[in-house]
Amino acid sequence: MPPHLHGEEKPARILGIESSCDETAAAVVEDGRRVLSNVVSSQVPLHARYGGVVPEIASRAHLEQIVPVCERALSEAGLALDGIDAVAVTRGPGLAGCLLAGVEFAKALASARGLPLVAAHHVAAHLYSVNIGRIRNAWGEDLRLPESGTPPYIALAISGGHTSLAGVRGPLDIEVLGETLDDAVGEAYDKVAKLAGLGYPGGARIDALAADGDPARFALPRPMLAREGLDFSFSGLKTAFAREVQKLGGPETLSADGGTLADLCASFQAACVDVLIAKAERALRSSGLVRLAVTGGVACNRGLREALAHRMPGVTVALPEPEYCTDNAAMIAGLACHHLAAGQASGPELNVKPGWGMGS
Ligand code: KG4
Ligand code: ZN
Repeated sequence: MPPHLHGEEKPARILGIESSCDETAAAVVEDGRRVLSNVVSSQVPLHARYGGVVPEIASRAHLEQIVPVCERALSEAGLALDGIDAVAVTRGPGLAGCLLAGVEFAKALASARGLPLVAAHHVAAHLYSVNIGRIRNAWGEDLRLPESGTPPYIALAISGGHTSLAGVRGPLDIEVLGETLDDAVGEAYDKVAKLAGLGYPGGARIDALAADGDPARFALPRPMLAREGLDFSFSGLKTAFAREVQKLGGPETLSADGGTLADLCASFQAACVDVLIAKAERALRSSGLVRLAVTGGVACNRGLREALAHRMPGVTVALPEPEYCTDNAAMIAGLACHHLAAGQASGPELNVKPGWGMGS
């Protein structure tokens, strides 16, 4: 349960900072749940022409953006720095130079203002993101009431960087049940979009094209479905997609045939959705839980949202608002509130952990 401060005490307000990849983000969250501001400066236009995130460009952009983004987060929350009770930051996983920009800034800010410094795990924060919102959380619970956002639940974190399936017994009590053995699902979306000549990042583009396509036209594999367990693999699916693009005459020929392109996107999307739903179902069944949280950038996917609504009877599915699906700092500040309540603050020796696994 979120740490509440009642009576005469003021609510805990945390400034969260996120810079693990290509978004510079800052947010203010009260009591681990109520989002007072959520500011994201996306670097997508900077990286688009390279077809992927360029680490040096990303860290430089974080250094440029971090101060104005934090200032905006404070002003949109209607607060000055003296209204903040702690500074939280993503320690990992992510790109080392990018994480460093956020962690060093957070350390300097916390030390200059005499505030506690809290480190958060990026993927654990995604799993937590269903619990935050402005009025309601993703479970539909009113955030003004003290009892909302109660685990346990099964959660998927699906994005360009991660594909994790976990049992969440509490914000800080997470059991990893399955992970991708190769590409993350969002990475597979981005790679096949590139193969089809759709630009970067192409997840949302594939999703939009898939809406008008026939998902049964191309028989693409459902990797790891026949195998026991809860791990994922998406690189074989990407290779199968590449083979179809070649058979169809390459990206130029394909882009001239809108119907075939839509069918191929729909077939790819159907394979991803089938795998994600089947693994989530398996985890729900073996745990006996009936609540599922789907988080991360790929949780914006329209086809997945439709399938979750229709193919999981008896399961309460929580999907964050899109602004809390893609990388953001509100989820960092929200999770950090629980670290703070558990006495888990960091000192000036805090370092980054680019390869930080959940539970290590
Ligand atoms: O969570 P996020 O902002 O960053 C990471 O932590 O990676 O997720 C970005 C990823 C990208 O791979 C993007 O293509 C994918 O989420 N994405 C989508 C959709 N919207 C974003 N993938 C499929 N369908 C979408 N509608
Ligand atoms: Zn992320």
